[in-house]
Amino acid sequence: MSLRIFIPRDSGALAVGADEVAAALLAQAHARELPVDLVRPGSRGLYWLEPMLEVDTPDGRVAYGPVSPADVPALLDAIVAGEPHPLRQGLTEQIPWLKRQTRLTFARCGIVDPRSIDDYRAHGGYRGLERALKMSSDAIIDDVVKSGLRGRGGAGFPTGTKWRTVAQAGRGQKYICCNADEGDSGTFADRMLMEGDPFMIIEGMTIAGIAVGATKGYIYIRSEYPHAVEAMNAAIEAARRTGYLGEHICHSTDSFDIEVRVGAGAYICGEETSMLESLEGKRGTVRAKPPLPAHKGLFGRPTVINNVLTFSAVPYILDGGAQAYADCGMGRSRGTKPIQLGGNIKHGGLFEVAFGITLGELVDDIGGGTLSGRPVRAVQVGGPLGAYFPRALFDTPFDYEAFAARSGMVGHGGVVVFDDTVDMAKQARFAMEFCAHESCGKCTPCRIGSTRGAETVDKIIAGDKPAANIAVLEDLCNTMKFGSLCALGGLTPIPVLSALTHFPEDFGLAPRRLQAAE
Ligand SMILES: Cc1cc2nc3c(=O)[nH]c(=O)nc-3n(C[C@H](O)[C@H](O)[C@H](O)COP(=O)(O)O)c2cc1C
Ligand code: SF4
Repeated sequence: MSLRIFIPRDSGALAVGADEVAAALLAQAHARELPVDLVRPGSRGLYWLEPMLEVDTPDGRVAYGPVSPADVPALLDAIVAGEPHPLRQGLTEQIPWLKRQTRLTFARCGIVDPRSIDDYRAHGGYRGLERALKMSSDAIIDDVVKSGLRGRGGAGFPTGTKWRTVAQAGRGQKYICCNADEGDSGTFADRMLMEGDPFMIIEGMTIAGIAVGATKGYIYIRSEYPHAVEAMNAAIEAARRTGYLGEHICHSTDSFDIEVRVGAGAYICGEETSMLESLEGKRGTVRAKPPLPAHKGLFGRPTVINNVLTFSAVPYILDGGAQAYADCGMGRSRGTKPIQLGGNIKHGGLFEVAFGITLGELVDDIGGGTLSGRPVRAVQVGGPLGAYFPRALFDTPFDYEAFAARSGMVGHGGVVVFDDTVDMAKQARFAMEFCAHESCGKCTPCRIGSTRGAETVDKIIAGDKPAANIAVLEDLCNTMKFGSLCALGGLTPIPVLSALTHFPEDFGLAPRRLQAAE
């Protein structure tokens, strides 16, 4: 009988040598005339253990990691002989980091073969679509409303409300657009799903199409994600071949097809109206709202725009799980949130959990503190436009409203950890510099304000009239917040002001913390 072994093809695993480990394994197996069935799934999201190799056993999969090509001969010896090995992590499902999670969206990621639609179906895939095909548009949307699902791309807008607006926008061509630009620093959940469970995204988009009466979908993927592009294209082809995309899907009266479009790598193209411009082949600049994309979106037609994680939550909800989804979470934040732990952290990776977990639990308990071993000083949550929180705010629960009440945001769920060597004045400058670099240039507060902001922080860092320049910086932040056309200019003040509020000593208002640490 052949040995069934899993080595991820996820970009994060490839970056640390998963392909080399796979090649070494095949070479060793060949030399020993050992039959091996090698499967290349996505990642389980325990990135500090990548490349993580799993072996199928009668008790379940057993994990080994992090594995290097040089480890492979001795590892194979141990596996074949059933003996212990220092890299053995035990049954994968029993690893505490994985066991503590509530994986609804990532239930299959790292388990199924992302190239196999049969494997997807064998693990419960397409049950949501099959049910949706028997339901009315209203009933599908009611399920999404009942689940409490809110957009996972950042703003947290209720998904059911958005779908209903498009459904009620009359007849004629409508579109479904999946936002896979994933530009936020420290985020990788969209990429992991595209690489590890692409059929789920296709299924979610297809259900959305049936619900609102759209026959065409686009998935907009950043060019820095070549493996995700390849995985999505392969899955779309397979879905077409098997009747899950195209005319009369699953022999029904509904038709739906999807096309992948690759962006050119601008942060602003993740903003939904810029994305529409880019999808139409134009330069990615922001459109003024109204009209909302739900009324006048792609090519002027009613359009649903949702994030990868939002569409990916839909198959579970439609497979009879609306109430179960709504039962998870806290307040108005229902369901689970795939949180991405990164930066200077010991156990970085993908942690899906019900809303309500505190920032402190995530960073200290689950993340294990910093990789450097130094004290955690600041955590940025929600991407480059998110707030920097000090340890004093670690009791904040993961909940849209709780973060907003503390002038922060949950965003796409990126958590980036910094130790006590971080200079928060430099981080504030970086926020302004990032905005200046990524600004689409359409409105003055963002286009000019961000450059003036970076210059003003430079003056503060240089000790040039710090009190007066801090007042200028605060004034400028107010202008950007209230005068910008979109959230890039409008939210850049969040990281700047949070750094200033929580770490004033780094702005010369008190002895610089960095110098003290050094
Ligand atoms: C500057 C900027 C960048 C954004 N980048 C992304 C992105 O990469 N992915 C994403 O899904 N949403 C992004 N958004 C949010 C989108 O505009 C939009 O709210 C989202 O795609 C809607 O989907 P959702 O309701 O499922 O969250 C960005 C917004 C702004 C202002
Ligand atoms: S805030 Fe910045 S990115 Fe947004 S429209 Fe204005 S210039 Fe463009």
